[in-house]
Formats: sequence, structure tokens, C-alpha cells
Amino acid sequence: MPSYVVTGTSRGLGLHEFIAGHTHKNVHVIEADSKDARALRVNLKNAADTVSKITGGTLDVLINNAALMDYERVDLTLDAFPDAETLEADLMLFFQTNTIGPIHTINAFLPLLLAGTTKKCLTISTTAGSPKVANATNFTTYGGYGISKAALNLAIAKYASRFRDDGVVFLAVTPGMVKTMPGTEEEVNKALEPLVEKFRKRYPHFEGPITVERSVRDILVLLDRAGIADSGKFTHRDGRDGDSI
Ligand SMILES: NC(=O)c1ccc[n+]([C@@H]2O[C@H](COP(=O)([O-])OP(=O)(O)OC[C@H]3O[C@@H](n4cnc5c(N)ncnc54)[C@H](OP(=O)(O)O)[C@@H]3O)[C@@H](O)[C@H]2O)c1
Repeated sequence: MPSYVVTGTSRGLGLHEFIAGHTHKNVHVIEADSKDARALRVNLKNAADTVSKITGGTLDVLINNAALMDYERVDLTLDAFPDAETLEADLMLFFQTNTIGPIHTINAFLPLLLAGTTKKCLTISTTAGSPKVANATNFTTYGGYGISKAALNLAIAKYASRFRDDGVVFLAVTPGMVKTMPGTEEEVNKALEPLVEKFRKRYPHFEGPITVERSVRDILVLLDRAGIADSGKFTHRDGRDGDSI
């Protein structure tokens, strides 16, 4: 049976709360988060060691899902912060969490992936990290978030180039606009409406908000069919270029 590691499983797309009532014993929850950079690296190494003990030294698929997305000042444009220090602190927090975090995660699990059979690493990205989409839609907010994910897309291309000859497939995949925020269906749709309108002005076919189930199902189909020729790509969950909507 193939083994998977998924980060960011406390809520949203990676949620594994079903584990509580799960009859099978093949799902394990391992904590690795830390605000302290050094402790995070140690925790990730320990997490990889724990996985290694469970799987016998291998890992088939790593899914980098954890990220900081909603934060108190995400609606401010980069020029509108109260002061330079606050802007810098926010940018650093997003970079630390969404770019450096996944890089440390990949490095911690790489030896296991290389020893695995499937050799796939899927990183959840976002069109908010696409300069082309930002330009086309006048998407001025979510600056720190978008910048951190754009950097992550490049990191994934770097890993793809580095490990192509070893047969490891690295993908950066945008999951769609997924209804993971708390609230009723009506409240969530209302909160997302301005962004949907913005996107539809430029991309009239934009699908709008989708359920977690639909997003995850499509991502797993993509993961299954992706091969080494796809490695390093930034795409939508149906395989289309991620630099558009
Ligand atoms: N939802 C969307 O519309 C959408 C669109 C495009 C891309 N994405 C991407 O899809 C992925 C999942 O998004 P989501 O909507 O499910 O987000 P979410 O509901 O905010 O969940 C994020 C998950 O990441 C974890 N996390 C955050 N910071 C962490 C850290 N430093 N260390 C470990 N775990 C951390 C959170 O854990 P805690 O509970 O401990 O904070 C949580 O489990 C993210 O990569 C996001 O950028 C989402």
C-alpha cells in the first residue's frame, strides 16, 4: 500500500478529523509545527524519522498543503501598511511559513521519497502567486501570501530540475477557490463574492468557489496521472497552466 504524508491537517483542505472514528490503524497524526525556526527543523526531522519507522524507510507521496493564508492585514495593498516594520514582519512571516516551511519539509522527507516507489511531491500553490493573474485581474491584495507562494513555485521548479534524473516528480498545484473558511454556505459565498467578480471580469468562465471534496478529488486524479514530464510545472488541478484562471 502506498504511503502519503500530508501537512496542515488540522482543518481546511488537509483536514483529517475523520481519524478520530477511523477503524483502520494506517493513519497517523504527527505534530511538527513551531514558531521557532530551529525547533521547526528539528520537529520535521523527528516527523520524518517517525514516518520512516512506520513505513520501513520509504515514502511514496509528500503533499505540502500547510500554509498561512488568511491573516489580519491580507486586505492591505503593499503600499498601505501602517509602517515599514509591520509590512516587513508580515512579509517575513508569510515567507517563513509558506516558502521556507515547505522547503524544510521537502528536505526532511527527501531521503524517504527517494527510497520510495512512487516518488511524487505535490505542493499546494495558488493563482495568487501568479504575476500574470495579478496583472490580468488587478489582484492587489494578499501581497505577502502571493509573494510567498510565487517564491514557492520557483522552489518547486528548482527541486524538479535537481531530482529529475532520480525520477522524483515535483508539482505545484492550485486547488481552486475552495470553501474552507468557517461560516454557513451563504456567508462563505458572500465573503468570496468580491474576489469572484474580480476574476470573472477578466476570466468570465471562472468556476467560482468549490467544495473541499471536489478540489481534493481532482488533485488526487492529477497526482495519479502526473509523470516525470510534468515535473516542475505550476498548474490548476485539471492540469491547465496555473498562470491563468
Ligand atoms: N482555500 C482556498 O481557496 C485556497 C486557494 C488557493 C490555494 N489554497 C492553498 O491550499 C492549501 C490549504 O488551504 P486551506 O484553505 O485548507 O487553508 P486553512 O483552512 O487555513 O488550513 C491551513 C492548514 O495549514 C496549517 N498550517 C498553517 N501554518 C502552519 C505551520 N506553520 N506549520 C504547520 N501547519 C501550518 C494549519 O494549521 P493550524 O490549524 O495549526 O493553523 C491548517 O491545518 C494552502 O496551501 C493554501 O495556500 C487554498
